Amino acid sequence: MHTVTLNNGIEMPILGFGVYQVGPEETEAAVTAALAAGYRSLDTAAAYGNEEAVGAAIAASGIPRDELFITTKLWVQDAPAEQNTARAFDDSLRKLGLDHVDLYLIHQPFGDYYGQWRAMEQINRDGRARAIGVSNFPADRIIDLILNNEIAPAVNQIETNPFHQRAEDQRILAAEGVQIESWGPFAEGKNGLFTNELLAGIGRTHGKSVAQVVLRWMIQRQVVVIPKTVSPERMAQNLDVFDFELSDDDMAQIATLDEGGSQFFDHRDPEMVRWLSARRLG
Ligand SMILES: NC(=O)c1ccc[n+]([C@@H]2O[C@H](COP(=O)([O-])OP(=O)(O)OC[C@H]3O[C@@H](n4cnc5c(N)ncnc54)[C@H](OP(=O)(O)O)[C@@H]3O)[C@@H](O)[C@H]2O)c1
Repeated sequence: MHTVTLNNGIEMPILGFGVYQVGPEETEAAVTAALAAGYRSLDTAAAYGNEEAVGAAIAASGIPRDELFITTKLWVQDAPAEQNTARAFDDSLRKLGLDHVDLYLIHQPFGDYYGQWRAMEQINRDGRARAIGVSNFPADRIIDLILNNEIAPAVNQIETNPFHQRAEDQRILAAEGVQIESWGPFAEGKNGLFTNELLAGIGRTHGKSVAQVVLRWMIQRQVVVIPKTVSPERMAQNLDVFDFELSDDDMAQIATLDEGGSQFFDHRDPEMVRWLSARRLG
């Protein structure tokens, strides 16, 4: 598997498997199939409610732990954030059945995320998360976090797809040594992504599907991707993106699809901030 090197020297697969919106009862089978297909990087979160099922599939796979790259995420915490973060992390590890994760992310830029970050720095120093990072952080918030803490985030996981390409965010993050990771690489099919004529046309010239073109486009931009599917056929298809190359012209054409905004919601919309901040995990 091709990897990127994070700012602390750790290697992360450039292509992994995400399990958002996969119910706890389907997750074990999906992750088992993904591992059998060849995925070695898995992306879950406390908020997805499926860490136990991910852990069960990992345990049953028999794959050596050091061949896997496991990411989970911390949900918004009540005060005191430092203690609650330490507790939430222990909970995630227990559910996953692991003694460490490879990447631990702050899921949302809300609440006392400085307190959360200080707890995560300690978890990182203790070796229980090999790398720590953030998700859904706008550029200004991530710069402020870097300026006011000891450890810089290794990753910012943000919505990135052909309609929301994030070239400027990627430039800013790269200058700070922060790896961009795409969530929603297919925009969950919104905006007609899978039937987009430009993407389909490029796919035809390479004998590849729209999904494969999108993943390849992201990989050639050095964006880490974690597509989700529950279909074993699509799991294999989404992995099969290392035997072709998009031309400069293909890349330039895809660049024209950028609409410069989210297909989902804006993390800076005051109503969304209220809504997401009010949510607590049971
Ligand atoms: N940090 C965050 O706030 C955040 C937010 C959202 C997601 N994420 C992470 O990012 C991962 C990926 O994002 P996502 O799950 O939101 O959406 P996505 O990967 O953009 O899209 C998933 C959808 O695409 C379909 N699909 C997958 N491969 C396909 C293919 N080859 N051909 C046609 N359809 C295909 C899937 O359907 P089937 O399953 O039916 O095949 C599913 O409906 C998540 O699972 C999660 O790990 C993080």
